Amino acid sequence: MSDTAGTSSIDVRALRRAEFPWADETGAVYLNCASTGPLPERARRAIFEHLARACNPNHEFYEEHREIPAQARRRCAELIGALPDEIALGFNTTYGLNLAATALPLERGERVLLLDGDFPANVYPWLNLERRGVQVEFVACDERGLPNQEAALDRLARGDVRVFSISAVSFSNGYRLDLDAISRECQRHGTYLVVDGIQALGVVPIDVSATRIDILATGGQKWLLSPQGSGFAYVRRDLIDRLDPVAVGWLGFKASQDYGDLCSYALDPLESAARFELGSLAFASLHALNHSLSLLLELGVPSIERHVRAVQQPLIDWVAARGDLEWVSELSHERRSGILAFRAPEPDRLGARLRSAGLTVSIRQGAVRVSVHAFNCREEIEKLISVLEAALEA
Ligand SMILES: Cc1ncc(COP(=O)(O)O)c(C=O)c1O
Repeated sequence: MSDTAGTSSIDVRALRRAEFPWADETGAVYLNCASTGPLPERARRAIFEHLARACNPNHEFYEEHREIPAQARRRCAELIGALPDEIALGFNTTYGLNLAATALPLERGERVLLLDGDFPANVYPWLNLERRGVQVEFVACDERGLPNQEAALDRLARGDVRVFSISAVSFSNGYRLDLDAISRECQRHGTYLVVDGIQALGVVPIDVSATRIDILATGGQKWLLSPQGSGFAYVRRDLIDRLDPVAVGWLGFKASQDYGDLCSYALDPLESAARFELGSLAFASLHALNHSLSLLLELGVPSIERHVRAVQQPLIDWVAARGDLEWVSELSHERRSGILAFRAPEPDRLGARLRSAGLTVSIRQGAVRVSVHAFNCREEIEKLISVLEAALEA
């Protein structure tokens, strides 16, 4: 086993028993958090209790509807090394990416740089600005079809890029960008750095106190093990005042904080990034997000990452030993994430075979994409390998 395998400090048996009981009860193998992550038991209980309370309208929701978002801002901030005041709660990744695209100071003729092959959520909000005369330019993938970070750094060095918007981890191949190097280059040239964090957060550490990012956007529905409809944007403190959002919500203004006196309409936004929130939030989803984040913070993202690498290793060794399959993912320590993708003949047929054997992966861009999270164990990867062996022989 190579030295990148590492060891896991997560007691995965106990974790599965307490938080993911279906995994052992059903024997189903879920290797697909890059599509949708399962809720841990604590989040399931919390959302059910919340919804049960919501069924009885004779209940005072005022405090709950203040405390849930406040706790969510604290926990999201803790996850990424931010301040709670730098968090705006939203509904998905698209919310934060549109905030970036519509509120950053971007003039006609100025340039946005993107990476070819990125997920469309991080493309359309920028292409939509072309109507206003903003220029959108793509950095082509490298010869293996991976994000070409070196070419992007060279392009940034020309000094005429106003915004660089990237996914920290690529959805299709798991390529993890060097955010530190990119951030340094962006700072050198006054380029705003926008990061889509949805394929990283929860499994790959991102610390905005160490790596300067201007705006980070994520949904909670993948590696954060949270419901659809949960998500947040981080906005760097110094930028909050300089953003000019197209859409505003009534709760983003100081005059709306006292429900007894709502009609002064004073156009004075909150000091914090909560000024970018768009009215009433998805409280049930955020309540569950709070519980999922408590689990991830308890486990610690660096421990989850070590665990994921240890669980991935048998798959890496197996592909190397066979010699007839081709990695799409870059396997080096620095560029690896929770996603591994490899090319195999007839990927759709393989995907169907795996599904009928009770294993869930996904097929993306013609490759088998395997996502490993904290609740997965090596035995599951061994089962994946044996089903793949049989399917490839057939
Ligand atoms: C990189 C990336 N960004 C965004 C999304 C989803 O965006 P949203 O949360 O807005 O649905 C996905 C996957 O669904 C993704 O892989």
